[in-house]
Amino acid sequence: MLLHIPAILAPAQVAEFRAALDAADWSDGRATVGAQGARVKHNRQLPEDSPLARQLGDRILAALARHPLFFAAALPLRIVPPLFNRYEGGEHYGLHVDGSIRNLPGTATRLRTDLSCTLFLTEPGDYDGGDLVIVDTYGTHEVRLPAGDLILYPSTSLHRVEPVTRGARTSAFFWLQSLVRDTERRRLLFELDQTIQQLRARLGETEETVALTGQYHNLLRMWSDT
Ligand code: NI
Repeated sequence: MLLHIPAILAPAQVAEFRAALDAADWSDGRATVGAQGARVKHNRQLPEDSPLARQLGDRILAALARHPLFFAAALPLRIVPPLFNRYEGGEHYGLHVDGSIRNLPGTATRLRTDLSCTLFLTEPGDYDGGDLVIVDTYGTHEVRLPAGDLILYPSTSLHRVEPVTRGARTSAFFWLQSLVRDTERRRLLFELDQTIQQLRARLGETEETVALTGQYHNLLRMWSDT
């Protein structure tokens, strides 16, 4: 399931992020990938331990924690601190799959990457090229979102970033381990959650919405790992 989640950051926050990021020192993006990724990755990143990356990353994590649609879709258990990348002057990232296991920086904790996220920080009109192309079982999807919006997609998907031929494309990206490992179970829970919310909005709280909420939580209890 690919899910577009709008307005993780408000326009004023995006502007503040961009002012800080446009003035930052960027380094070679190959620092954070394995051998396969290094052959196809041509972009720049903020170093993982840069204070600016940590500060902006924490603000993104706080915004995600307040976002009910993100929570319902991702059911996050652990989230890797967000990283930041930038493409310009023809930079691109060839077809690859993200590594399956990552260390949480500064800890002994490892995380299985179930879901990958890109948070766009540049308006689509400000650059040419730079589409995130995701290949999944339903075909090929070209993703290019307004600044402040996020795409959530299974980390099992092959994907690439097309060359940026005008302007610069700045984004945050990160991975998470979900409470629910299986994509189809996670999708079913998300759809059930959304249906319950819609019923509650239309009818108010009823015996049936209370019962359905209980059934949702019993499925989540059955399928989640913590
Ligand atoms: Ni990737």
